[in-house]
Amino acid sequence: MLRQPLRLAITEATRILGEAGVPSPHVDAELIAAHVLDVPRGKLVLTPLVDRQVVEAIARLVRERAKRVPLQHLVGWAALGPVTVSVGPGVFVPRPETELLLEWGLSVLADRAAPVVVDLCTGSGALALAVSVAHPDAVVHAVEMDSTALAWARKNLGDSGVHLHAGDVTGSSLLADLDGQADLVLCNPPYVPVGTEVPPEVSEHDPAEAVFAGPDGLAVIRHVVTLAARLLRPGGAVGIEHDDTQGEAVPALLAARMVLTRVADHDDLAGRPRFATAYRT
Ligand SMILES: C[S@@+](CC[C@H](N)C(=O)[O-])C[C@H]1O[C@@H](n2cnc3c(N)ncnc32)[C@H](O)[C@@H]1O
Repeated sequence: MLRQPLRLAITEATRILGEAGVPSPHVDAELIAAHVLDVPRGKLVLTPLVDRQVVEAIARLVRERAKRVPLQHLVGWAALGPVTVSVGPGVFVPRPETELLLEWGLSVLADRAAPVVVDLCTGSGALALAVSVAHPDAVVHAVEMDSTALAWARKNLGDSGVHLHAGDVTGSSLLADLDGQADLVLCNPPYVPVGTEVPPEVSEHDPAEAVFAGPDGLAVIRHVVTLAARLLRPGGAVGIEHDDTQGEAVPALLAARMVLTRVADHDDLAGRPRFATAYRT
């Protein structure tokens, strides 16, 4: 059977994705090819020629991606730090910027033995799983409200030992058994102000309740701050991811709690305000 150059298939895929407005068309084209061939992206050069079926499989996925279906839905997984999680319809796709929150959280845990960690708004369970893999003696709890997201989280957390709770972080009695016990509370909540324009991958494929949170985007974060203040033990820390327009508002919410101190905000790699942190007095 006539084999075809993979390079040509990737060039054509890049062109189609570029015309569809996909932000990094060449990267996505290579990642789709790597997925079809089941090799790491960096090893594509080792497969210069491919069968027609491979070219057709790449073209099928490229057509979906050109309709702005998230790449992670097409390949079925997303990475966060040391872990990959399954993702698809009905669950928020973990984003690279959340790795900064993860790294900060792991630095807090560095010198703590058997720490108690709570991941609020866990979605796919990615943050909770990453903490439990990076810090195996941590006792990790994860909370999620949405039943579809919970199903993904249950699948991803498997037998990791992470305790998954169905719950609403705006409720006043959530995780009451852990009051004053947590060494670390992490949260990547919905934080986009309602009405903000977002790309089709987000508007059509991320659940709205995973993304938007009231007119100022702070509707869930306000409750997360209250809950974290209640859950943290003295010296425990909280980190909350936020919108780049909330670099003052979220630190102000943390600073308004008498029991929280050392409030700071942190930029992402593009220099935009991305997450706020504080410690329990
Ligand atoms: C931005 S997503 C983040 C998911 C995950 N932490 C991550 O980084 O990939 C926010 C998640 O919070 C959940 N959520 C929204 N409101 C909630 C609430 N009041 N209580 C619990 N979970 C909530 C959504 O269902 C969604 O899964």
